[in-house]
Amino acid sequence: MRFDLLTLFPGMFTGPLSESILKRAQQAGLISVHLHNIRDWAIDRHRTADDAPYGGGAGMVMKAAPLAAAIRAVIDQDRDPEPPPVILLSPAGELFHHAIAQELAASPRLLLVCAHYEGLDERVREQLITRELSIGDYVLTGGELAAMVLIDAIARLRPGVIDAESIGEESHRDGLLEYPHYTRPALWEGHPVPPVLLSGHHGEVARWRRQERLRRTFARRPDLLPKAYAAGQLSSDDLRLLAELGWRPEQAMDQRI
Ligand code: ADE
Repeated sequence: MRFDLLTLFPGMFTGPLSESILKRAQQAGLISVHLHNIRDWAIDRHRTADDAPYGGGAGMVMKAAPLAAAIRAVIDQDRDPEPPPVILLSPAGELFHHAIAQELAASPRLLLVCAHYEGLDERVREQLITRELSIGDYVLTGGELAAMVLIDAIARLRPGVIDAESIGEESHRDGLLEYPHYTRPALWEGHPVPPVLLSGHHGEVARWRRQERLRRTFARRPDLLPKAYAAGQLSSDDLRLLAELGWRPEQAMDQRI
């Protein structure tokens, strides 16, 4: 899978991309990340990529011409018959979540546009951006860290990047949070590991883990339960436990309205 990043600050990516799993994934040829400096398409003497907003106001706006030229050049670069999705990272975008990561992981190529300053000229958004994503309801100084979040969340879903088993029961994959983990020693500062994990009963361990996932989701992210219920991801045993905790499907339907 190929990621093309359009940014004014390519140096921001070097650290995260040269460590750990993303580094190994690139070395193994499972993903490739190509950095493009938008300023390289600014043709004036000062290589200007931004300007003051029409109508006045604070901050600077990324100019249409250099950004559009950069996007078009990078799309053409591969001469793909099918142009890649052109994704703008912006706090005004659709909220990024696991299902979107899965959808994007199926694409052979993504072009990520990182805006800075007050944003970009609206005409580029209208003409060239195919999707706009936000990583949360807060404002970052630019789209670079958000693009990095996308690359990380998407790359790890590509075959071979991490152990398929690790993806199995992790948080959000099937709408529930993950169960708690423990490793040796069995007693740490007077705190024991839950005895069921030492019992060797695989069935009991699986049941306990499922219950912990439900308890955690109910306690921390009850907003996830209606969706899991509507998607048919809760068994009758799950619903029984949730009822003991005080959660009812009818409540879920009310919340959905
Ligand atoms: N750029 C600035 N803030 C952002 C956010 N929350 N998500 C994505 N891109 C951004």
